[in-house]
Amino acid sequence: MSKMIPDLEGAFRQFVPPRDAVLLQLEEEATREGIPIIGPVVGEFLYVLARAIQAKQILELGTATGYSAIYLARACQGSTGRLVTLEKDEGMASRAQANFQKAGLAHCIEIRVADALAEMTNMEGPFDLIFMDIDKEGYLPLLSHCHRLLKAEGLMVTDNVGFHAANDFNHAVFESPQWKSVHLLSFLPYHSPEKDGLCLALRT
Ligand SMILES: C[S@@+](CC[C@H](N)C(=O)[O-])C[C@H]1O[C@@H](n2cnc3c(N)ncnc32)[C@H](O)[C@@H]1O
Repeated sequence: MSKMIPDLEGAFRQFVPPRDAVLLQLEEEATREGIPIIGPVVGEFLYVLARAIQAKQILELGTATGYSAIYLARACQGSTGRLVTLEKDEGMASRAQANFQKAGLAHCIEIRVADALAEMTNMEGPFDLIFMDIDKEGYLPLLSHCHRLLKAEGLMVTDNVGFHAANDFNHAVFESPQWKSVHLLSFLPYHSPEKDGLCLALRT
């Protein structure tokens, strides 16, 4: 007999973390409008990671309506913590800003309406954590900026690395001595899509 729990995916749906009304509303809007958000499992994963490394300065690439930003900001909202989040779509950015107000987090989130590559070229760090979730073709061109903007031993978390368009990025991170990385193929209830890859990379 197998040592594994039968219907592993069904069983693991029991462990989807609970959410408050703001996050549930954003999930409902995302489903209705087809907005690809990280969902509650990756959200809680980011929260736990950010708390574990005591991240105070966090950079997010790809805000959409602000769902993942809420998890990240909650993790770093202590006295000096702040999240900078970049979004190229003005309509999405203004929805995100309204959601940050609703969540009581506007004071610790700075949203910039900008293309990530253009904006990061002129940014200064250091950040403790960077979460990357933009168009996947953008991952590889941003890699050197992520390295420059992270502190030594800072953490880069990249979503959707199971996408074909992320494959060059995957190889570049895996093969570079500038990163100590792990690629996780994961089952992620309510993530878009539910089976996908995540990459965690420590800046060396
Ligand atoms: C997958 S969604 C982000 C979802 C969000 N992180 C969440 O889970 O709640 C990707 C977002 O990144 C934005 N985006 C894509 N390419 C970008 C770029 N080069 N610079 C800035 N934003 C970008 C898109 O407009 C879209 O809103």
